[in-house]
Amino acid sequence: MTRLAFIGAGRIAQAIMGGLINQGLTASNMTAADPDPDILDMLPTGVKRSADNLAAVADADVVILCVKPNMAKPVVSGLASVLTDRLLISVAAGIRASDLTAWSGAATVIRCMPNTPALIRQGMIGLYSADASAVQRALAGDLLGAVGATAWFDSDDDLDKVTALSGSGPAYFFYLMEAMIDAGVELGMSTEASRTLVLNTAMGAAAMAVKSPDSPAQLRANVTSPGGTTEAALNVLSAQGLSESLDAAVRAAYERAIELGNSV
Ligand SMILES: NC(=O)c1ccc[n+]([C@@H]2O[C@H](COP(=O)([O-])OP(=O)(O)OC[C@H]3O[C@@H](n4cnc5c(N)ncnc54)[C@H](OP(=O)(O)O)[C@@H]3O)[C@@H](O)[C@H]2O)c1
Repeated sequence: MTRLAFIGAGRIAQAIMGGLINQGLTASNMTAADPDPDILDMLPTGVKRSADNLAAVADADVVILCVKPNMAKPVVSGLASVLTDRLLISVAAGIRASDLTAWSGAATVIRCMPNTPALIRQGMIGLYSADASAVQRALAGDLLGAVGATAWFDSDDDLDKVTALSGSGPAYFFYLMEAMIDAGVELGMSTEASRTLVLNTAMGAAAMAVKSPDSPAQLRANVTSPGGTTEAALNVLSAQGLSESLDAAVRAAYERAIELGNSV
């Protein structure tokens, strides 16, 4: 059985641990290290705990780095003596696999970019590694698959694009929901009623887009009758440049991801 060490035991680490236990992984195969004793107290029963990163990694086959991005360099540098024959999987946003390899000396590094819905195990996780074997890729896919859908990419640059699309993406949808709820209130509806209508519509539309063989463009066309209400709304969105705004927004996020990666 693969033994896992989580370095940083906060929200994303706990979500992954919970997902793995839910899938039948034995909790005692996991060790988590965190400087905060209150965080260690919150971990699922059976997970081993430590305040010492080196001690947590001692028996592990795979080390999962779950600290904030600004802590990634000092933390993996501090583990360099033991990482030489381990697989290091990092979920730290924006930290490049090439930098993790240079800092840690780990035999193999896999960089992952999850998004916030991973906290409810409905995340989208992009993965990249320059040197992982097929077996290591399958293992990382299984581990991160505990908190959402996974997809592999070919470079650190690709993961900056993942960051711009699915990493920051939940906020774009939240913004759209927020604006639609406000629009309902402007029409005279209560906030609660508008929220119920908008959130359930968002959930249904997402589920339909995922399940349907049709593209989102086709699904949109299917519900847009000539001269109807949907067409009236879409004409306004088009005339006011929503598509161009989203294109520019995703590009801005991508460029910022590159800048942040360069600044570590
Ligand atoms: N949450 C998400 O939805 C999400 C999505 C995508 C990517 N991520 C990535 O996942 C990583 C963790 O995010 P999170 O939301 O789980 O953050 P979090 O809840 O703050 O967890 C990070 C944990 O690491 C601990 N820590 C700090 N210094 C440490 C050290 N030297 N050694 C070991 N542990 C240390 C922190 O303890 P203290 O609080 O005492 O400092 C904290 O408990 C980040 O890099 C983030 O970019 C998260």
